[in-house]
Amino acid sequence: MSKEMILMLHPTFGVLAMIAAVWVFVEALNASDANIGRLRNASVLSAILIWLAYIVGGYWYVIYYGGDKALIKAGPWPFAHGFFMETKEHLFLMLLLLGTFLPIAAYGDVVKKKVTRKLVLWTSALVVLMGLSMEGAGAFINMGVKVALLAKQL
Ligand code: HEM
Repeated sequence: MSKEMILMLHPTFGVLAMIAAVWVFVEALNASDANIGRLRNASVLSAILIWLAYIVGGYWYVIYYGGDKALIKAGPWPFAHGFFMETKEHLFLMLLLLGTFLPIAAYGDVVKKKVTRKLVLWTSALVVLMGLSMEGAGAFINMGVKVALLAKQL
C-alpha cells in the first residue's frame, strides 16, 4: 500500500468512527428494547474504528511524519506542527479512551436507567466533537506542509 494511501486511511477510519458515534447518539435518544442491539453494535464499531485510526495514524506519525515535520517547522506555518500536531497527538489519547469507554457504557442498562442513557449520550457526543477537532487539526497540518512546499518553490 502506498504511503499516501496510509495517510488517507487514518482520517477515513476516524470519520467512520464519528459516524458510528452519531448513530449511537441517535439510538440512545430513543433507547428501547427494540433498538438496544443496534446501539450496542454501533458503539463497538465506533471503538474498533477509533483504534484503527490510532494504529494507522500512529504508524504514519512514527514512520513517515519526520520529513513533513521538518518541512512545516522550516516553513511559513510552524504552528501547524508546534500547536496543531502537538495538541492532536495528546488530545487523541482522550478520544481513544472515550471511544473505548463508549461500548462499556452502552452495555449498561441504557433502556431503563436515565443516568446510563445520559452517559452514552455525552460519551458519543464527545467522541464526535473530539473527532471533528482531529479532522480540523489534520487540515492545518496538511496545509502546513503545502505552504512550506510552495514557499520552497519561490
Ligand atoms: C479521529 C481521528 C483522526 C482524524 C479524523 C484525523 C484526520 C486527519 C486529516 C484529515 C489529516 C490531513 C490528511 C492529509 O494530509 O491529507 C491528518 C493528518 C495527520 N494526522 Fe490525523 N487524524 C486522526 C487521528 C490521528 C492520529 C491518532 C494520529 C497519530 C498520532 C494522527 C496523525 C496525523 C499526522 C502525523 C498527520 C500529518 C500528515 C502529514 O501531512 O504528514 N492522526 N489527520
